[in-house]
Amino acid sequence: TLLTLAMLIAGYLLGSIPSGYLAGRWLAGLDIRREGSGSTGATNVLRVVGKGPALAVFLVDVLKGAAAVLLAKTLLDPFGVGVVLAGLAALAGHIWPVWLGWKGGKAVATGLGMLLGLTWPVGLACFGIFLAVLSLSRIVSLSSVVAALALPLLMLGWFADQGLGLRWPYLGLALLTTLLVLWRHRSNIKRLLAGTEPRLGAPKH
Ligand code: G3P
Repeated sequence: TLLTLAMLIAGYLLGSIPSGYLAGRWLAGLDIRREGSGSTGATNVLRVVGKGPALAVFLVDVLKGAAAVLLAKTLLDPFGVGVVLAGLAALAGHIWPVWLGWKGGKAVATGLGMLLGLTWPVGLACFGIFLAVLSLSRIVSLSSVVAALALPLLMLGWFADQGLGLRWPYLGLALLTTLLVLWRHRSNIKRLLAGTEPRLGAPKH
């Protein structure tokens, strides 16, 4: 419907709010897409701008994902496919922002926000796994990849816990999100396999 289309556009626009890029521009006078990993995400902001800005970018990016889903939930069928599509549109906006020549982030913080808005226990569980891997490894990309791989299983676990039958839109969202996060981390994965991915606190690469 027209309303679903409007929610898709709103989701994309919310996701494409260039928080990481603006933090680089305003606070350090640089183009974050040309620094560090080239990502506009909070991890790269931490690497090239600083801790406070990184935390702010993380929070804004989580809120973007959550807002896209919550807005759609209030205006569309809260368990329908439209809400799922609005969440995925936010991820697309964050990864491929039209304002930044399509060069955005890796869908981790925005994905967390999307999950918190859609099925918050699944979002919290993913975040818990992320933090556990991060505290052991001090490598953000590894933590993101492991949390992304756990997502489809956690979503299935949530269905089982709720006593719901398979919800295909939610399962599809989980699988697509996993694929998007893995795809966006392909250069990180190469570095992880080569043993050259930097740990938190290490000098820039
Ligand atoms: O959230 C993105 C993180 O997993 C990796 O970021 O900048 O190290 O490629 P980056």
